Parts: sequence; structure tokens; C-alpha cells
Amino acid sequence: MDKGAIGVFDSGLGGLSILREIRKQLPHESILYFADQAHVPYGPRPSEQIRLFSEEITRFLLAQNAKAIIVACNTASAAALKYLRKTFPNTPFIGMEPAVKPAAKASHSGKIAVLATPATYQGALFASVVERFAKDAEIIQQTIPGLVSLIEMGNLNGKETYDVLSRALTPLLEDDVDTLVLGCTHYPVVVPLIEQIVGPEVKIIDPSPAIARQTARTLDRYGLAAPAGKDATLTFISSADPDQLASMAKQLINETGIPQQAGWHGHRLELE
Ligand code: DGL
Repeated sequence: MDKGAIGVFDSGLGGLSILREIRKQLPHESILYFADQAHVPYGPRPSEQIRLFSEEITRFLLAQNAKAIIVACNTASAAALKYLRKTFPNTPFIGMEPAVKPAAKASHSGKIAVLATPATYQGALFASVVERFAKDAEIIQQTIPGLVSLIEMGNLNGKETYDVLSRALTPLLEDDVDTLVLGCTHYPVVVPLIEQIVGPEVKIIDPSPAIARQTARTLDRYGLAAPAGKDATLTFISSADPDQLASMAKQLINETGIPQQAGWHGHRLELE
């Protein structure tokens, strides 16, 4: 029996870094990828608004027969994951949390920077990972204003992107930070630039492979895994420009899918 696709959502292109790992580890799973590019960036928005978007996106993906939802966005996970689990108790959710645990293991200086959007540090999720996993480390919160919008415009290695990153990262190096946590799913696509700025001594922790492993475990636990040999389909839905989303997916992670338009009508999200 067809149990549906995995619904994956983000404010924009960031969740593609999660999708890349899902495709590697779970190639038989069909994916509905939703990018809320009419509202990107989420990072500077109030948590309450991000929660409303996330709830409606979840309803929308479930209406398209999603069997599980990956909140492939740290900002939406911080604002909404707990609420989503309560509101949709029969739906398995996989969410993002800053990878402070592996960072605390990897760091020698005990100084770790979490690179994320402002909304990601708010609320209980961030406080709880720091409390649980990094009591003895010093955690520095570092936002990178403007970076998500530059990535959305496809500026992955231009001078402007380099400068924005350099302004955020250089002070961390001066402060003896030796481990960086990518706490925003948009950031893995600019790892080459980050490495260029921080050099080989600084460790970069990308949680995407762990999220894909957790997705596999969750599907197994719920008996929802697609059988091996099943032909998987990929659908790229955007609330702005699905053709641009599909072409960025090809460029960034070499995946081809069907573009589909969705639109916000007041608080409702619908396929066009
Ligand atoms: N990709 C997102 C995250 O992981 C959101 C970035 C944004 O829209 O500000 O936080």
C-alpha cells in the first residue's frame, strides 16, 4: 500500500541540505518539498507568526498525503516543533535542534559558536540543548544578518556573501572558538566559503546526516518506510517561484523534481 511521501519544509532553499542526505540514505522515499519563499527569511520574524506558518504548512502537506513531516528549518523547529507535535498527535515529526552535543565532544578550547537566526535562540529548545549537552562549554550565539537572503538569490560564492560571512566569523576566531555548529539549514551550502575564512583548524558541525538517520529510525518505528525498489518521486512546491526552486535544487544538490505552485490566501495555503 502507498503510505504517502515524506513532507519536508523550510522557509526556502535551506531544507535542500537535509533533502540531499535523505536522498542518499533513503532513496526509495518520495518527497514533497515545500519552500515558503513568499515569507523567507523566517529568522527575523516573531515566533508566533512562524508557528502559524508552520501549522498551516503541516496541514497543507498532510492534505497532499504526507506520512511524516521533517521540519527542515531550525527557526521553525525552535518556534513550532513542540506545538506541531501537540496539534498533530498522529503525525511523526522530525525536527532540527542545534548540534551542540557533537560540538561539545569535538571542541578542545571549550568555545563553540552556534551560527543561527535570531529566532532560533529564543524559546526552550535552544536553552535545553545547551543545558543538556554543553554545561561545561562556552556557547556563543552568532547570527549572520543577510546571509539567508543572499543564498536565496543564488549568491553562494560572491564577494558580498564572503564579506557577510567574514564579518560574522572573524571575531569568533579572535575569541579562540574552535568549533562551529551550523544551526540554520541554509548554511551547509556555503561551507566552502566558511572553510576559506576559518581555515582547517576549526571544526564545522553539519547535522544533516544525523537528521536523515533519525528520519529512517522514525519511519521504521511507525511502520511507514517505503519498500525497497519503489520508484520515488520528488515534488518541489514553492509559495513564490517553483521553477526557480526546482532549478536551484538541480544546481545545489543535483536533484530533479516536479515544480508545483502553491499560494497563501490569507492564512490558508493552497495548491494553485
Ligand atoms: N533555513 C532556516 C533555518 O534553518 C531559516 C532561515 C530563515 O528563513 O531565516 O533556520
